[in-house]
Amino acid sequence: MELNEDLGALFENVDNQPNDERPKVFIETYGCQMNVNDSEVIASILHANGYAIINKLDDADVILINTCSIRENAETRVWGRLDVFKQIKKRKPSVLVGVVGCMAERLKENLIEEQKIVDLVVGPDAYRELPVLIRAAEDGQKGINVLLSREETYGDISPVRLDKNGVSAFVSIMRGCNNMCAYCVVPYVRGGERSRDPKTILREVQELIDAGYREVTLLGQNVDSYHWKHEGLLHHVHYTNFSDLLEMVATLSPNLRVRFSTSHPKDLNDEVLYTMAMYENICNHIHLPVQSGSTRILELMNRGYDRDYYMKRINAIRNIIPDCAISSDFITGFCTETEEDHTQTLTLMEWAKFDFAYMFKYSERPNTKAARSYTDDVAEEVKSRRLTEIIELQGKLSEESKKRDIGKSFEVLIEGESKKSKEEFFGRTSQNKVVVFPRKNHKIGDYVLVEITDCTPATLLGKIVEE
Ligand code: 5AD
Ligand code: SF4
Repeated sequence: MELNEDLGALFENVDNQPNDERPKVFIETYGCQMNVNDSEVIASILHANGYAIINKLDDADVILINTCSIRENAETRVWGRLDVFKQIKKRKPSVLVGVVGCMAERLKENLIEEQKIVDLVVGPDAYRELPVLIRAAEDGQKGINVLLSREETYGDISPVRLDKNGVSAFVSIMRGCNNMCAYCVVPYVRGGERSRDPKTILREVQELIDAGYREVTLLGQNVDSYHWKHEGLLHHVHYTNFSDLLEMVATLSPNLRVRFSTSHPKDLNDEVLYTMAMYENICNHIHLPVQSGSTRILELMNRGYDRDYYMKRINAIRNIIPDCAISSDFITGFCTETEEDHTQTLTLMEWAKFDFAYMFKYSERPNTKAARSYTDDVAEEVKSRRLTEIIELQGKLSEESKKRDIGKSFEVLIEGESKKSKEEFFGRTSQNKVVVFPRKNHKIGDYVLVEITDCTPATLLGKIVEE
């Protein structure tokens, strides 16, 4: 899952009418794309129940903060925001403050006990209850619902696109996670894995196509284990797996780019790779978090694969989809990690030549397998030094990956104006690399062929090739 702990509230005002009498809700989102999508589901539920969704914190009657628990610093940031909301509440005592999402699930009523200003605590599977809980809170009762569900997928809800560029959107295909990685809080805060009915996924994607969208990213904690059982007449049973779903989405329109995240190395099978190779509009990028290059550490992490298996998966990707970008996540300083284990991570990175990566210091999360059974015994300075080393190495690999693109031409989907100049657009290649180029007379949402002429550490630079 791509993480953006600094996301904050960048949402567009979706309900911008003056003199709107409806109660106003401000939603601030932290964490992964899954959380961003959940905020869109929340907006949809509240909108349908008579609330206006706004983007000015000071005007809010209800402030919701959608939270992340993945690392301690993600939670620290939320505590900081709650202090800010406390000040707002001092000025305007009628404002309701709700903590929703992963941290709500992890801390439950303790959140209300610790932070008296919190009126609502709602876990990721209880968003349908929000209107009822907000009403109860308006009457002075603290509202809490942190029940996890075995079925909830919000399949019938069309999310309100909050941060819309009108070009690309995220679509949840499943919720929760059944993998018990020793370090990870997700199964505890998001519950068990459940897939969403493919009919509702296809309907949502079709609605996006009809609204002019050109790209969808199918989201799940582990998309490769997507699984839907259809029971037909006479006990006829058939299944839709992830490869089938990808194909179904890709065939809706050849003009729609299809991406997905996140894949798990133990579950990414060749069938998915062949489907990707078969459809031009399924983008050539796989985010395949390895976490560590050491088989011993992978075993302790309970990842379900070893170094050799991961390398074989990379080889399969390179054989079946030769121009596929591969990105990864790394955790440095996991329990008992030695210099030798760390070196194994560095050598794997060099070998795999990842196009980009997200890298983190291990952060012990309460109640996980690692917290219960192992000791967080790698010193903070050692974690930091190892993190610096992998960041530096990845910096070099990412730059080399961009340099390999110089002189080549790529189809780019135009996503918006470049931050630096109105004369330039930015978009991405199928491989998910950002390209900046002079706009000529094209518009956002167009596909253009761009020749790469140069690169900066963060982006490719190019020019549109006239066809
Ligand atoms: N500490 C540090 N990083 C973590 N991740 C998950 N749990 C932890 C943790 N306890 C990282 C993994 C995962 C990404 C989403 O976050 O690399 O792939
Ligand atoms: Fe996303 Fe995991 Fe953070 Fe929850 S804890 S918001 S699932 S990254």
